[in-house]
Amino acid sequence: MSEGDFDYEPTIKNLLEKDTLKWIFVGGKGGVGKTTTSCSLAIQLAKVKKSVLLISTDPAHNLSDAFGQKFSKHPQLVNGFTNLSAMEIDPKPEANAPEVMNNNNSGLNLQELVSGIPGIDEAMSFAEVMKLVKSLEFSVVVFDTAPTGHTLRLLSIPSLMDKSFGKLMSMQQNFSGVFSAFSSVMGPDIPSMDTIESTLNNSKKTIEEVNVQFKNPDLTTFVPVCIPEFLSVYETERLIQELTKLDIDVQNVIVNQIVYPEQDCGLCNARKKMQKKYLDQIDDLYIDFHITKLPLLKAEVRGVDSLKLFSQLLVTQYDPTHPLTLPNESK
Ligand SMILES: Nc1ncnc2c1ncn2[C@@H]1O[C@H](COP(=O)(O)OP(=O)(O)OP(=O)(O)O)[C@@H](O)[C@H]1O
Ligand SMILES: [Mg+2]
Ligand SMILES: [Zn+2]
Repeated sequence: MSEGDFDYEPTIKNLLEKDTLKWIFVGGKGGVGKTTTSCSLAIQLAKVKKSVLLISTDPAHNLSDAFGQKFSKHPQLVNGFTNLSAMEIDPKPEANAPEVMNNNNSGLNLQELVSGIPGIDEAMSFAEVMKLVKSLEFSVVVFDTAPTGHTLRLLSIPSLMDKSFGKLMSMQQNFSGVFSAFSSVMGPDIPSMDTIESTLNNSKKTIEEVNVQFKNPDLTTFVPVCIPEFLSVYETERLIQELTKLDIDVQNVIVNQIVYPEQDCGLCNARKKMQKKYLDQIDDLYIDFHITKLPLLKAEVRGVDSLKLFSQLLVTQYDPTHPLTLPNESK
């Protein structure tokens, strides 16, 4: 193919059209519009997919705020939809640890035992969440992630896990004597080495499966969201480099909160000029990505009706001569 054959449409239609896509991560700096984008993306996916699950892994949990509906750690239909569900998971390791880790009467805190090994408790917790999510069989899952650092840690867990696991296995051998001594004194309440080992092996297997899937561009993609300002563009570039190192596919970049002055206004004109510089940089940097540009609206994008309207901007190119008015916007 020659260069001219490539056409990167400035929408997320490539994601809607990809039948094999199973995991979509939405990420970026704090406050740029990750939650708004992931809700909007999920709404558009729900139009073409059998079932969509939107998961927040951000401890601040803003899906509930965005939709104006309380979600929990189990999937729940979003009001007004028949095939779009949402859930909010607690990313703290203790919250999703396998039963045996903290629910045994042995007085032994296995959580504490393994917490000496960096990443392993988080990995096991993530494995549990992924096990649950996989068993639910949604057509596609959208992750609204926490600001960048945490997400990258989550995605690099599979490789962390491999290292930690080796350590744990050797540690376990050292401990097995202690365990059997405990068992003979305290009886059957202590989880046997077999139980612990099979729990660990189980988590490891899930993590390995997930790892293979996350590195497969047919199944997984990451959608960075940014705003046209120095820090955000800089961090997006770093994020994309990190993702490339982790073998995680990126096809799209969302640029949010672009100012389109409606009148001759000093503030808007100045911001437009500032943004233009970074928009040009983004166009240069991401020449072979689908770059979707979204306007800064007068009101917050909250509630199902506003999100539905906003989500259309992901599949059409925004026309500033026909500004989008949200239902909650005061005239
Ligand atoms: N294009 C836009 N126009 C107007 N308001 C917007 C736009 N995008 C997002 N907002 C509003 O800005 C606020 C922050 O957006 P959002 O919650 O999506 O960001 P976030 O990246 O998820 O933030 P956090 O890092 O805190 O999770 C919200 O109140 C949202 O309604
Ligand atoms: Mg958010
Ligand atoms: Zn203005």
